[in-house]
Amino acid sequence: MRYWVSAYEDYRRIESEIQRLVWYHFRRHGIEIPFPSRNVYLHEARAAEGAESPAKRLERALRGIDLFRPLSDDELRAAVGRFRPLHYSGGERIIEEGAPGDSFFLIDNGEVQVSKKMGGFPRELARLMEGQFFGEMALLTGEPRAATVVAASDVDLFVLDKNGFQDIIAANPEIAVDMSSILAERREALSQAQGDVTHRFDTPGNNPAELKARILDRIRRYFGV
Ligand code: CMP
Repeated sequence: MRYWVSAYEDYRRIESEIQRLVWYHFRRHGIEIPFPSRNVYLHEARAAEGAESPAKRLERALRGIDLFRPLSDDELRAAVGRFRPLHYSGGERIIEEGAPGDSFFLIDNGEVQVSKKMGGFPRELARLMEGQFFGEMALLTGEPRAATVVAASDVDLFVLDKNGFQDIIAANPEIAVDMSSILAERREALSQAQGDVTHRFDTPGNNPAELKARILDRIRRYFGV
């Protein structure tokens, strides 16, 4: 529809009058004005036949982690309920070195890069993938984050916070012993990467067994177990 108006200052009133006339004209001839519309259908989503639910996937992933081996089936299922899913896009920073933090992450899908600043430059320490975890150091010891973790691709994670972890450890304190071994290994890798002489094995109190014992002691105090 095209029309011209000479009284420009009046065009809003004229436009509205024309639209009113068109509306009545259409109504008389049974023509509907096609308003933008959409139909929204709500229905309960069902997992595809044979597809594994996130809870089952998480349960299977936890079974694959040494740390959770001491848990009974019931304890493991209770632990699953403590995690929540979280998504990051490729390039997003999940953990910042030096920041406080008390959550533990398990990778459901995708890849992350672990790096640490050395001499002012980030140096890659590891790449972690589906079924692997990170963030246990700050969670278990209360120390600042030891490294930066960035999503190397889109990643789906399961996250557990300190309260959730406390319940799991309280149910089975043996977990703390295994955790301290893994923590000691990663801590050692960090120290070696940094060439940190204060953490070398030949320094009294820094051989792997003593490091593990110290970490275990700290975990027990931090979690009161
Ligand atoms: P946290 O210190 O809580 O946050 C950074 C995380 O990076 C750390 O816990 C570990 O989970 C992870 N991390 C540190 N060093 C290494 C390493 N050498 N290999 C794999 N992961 C590491």
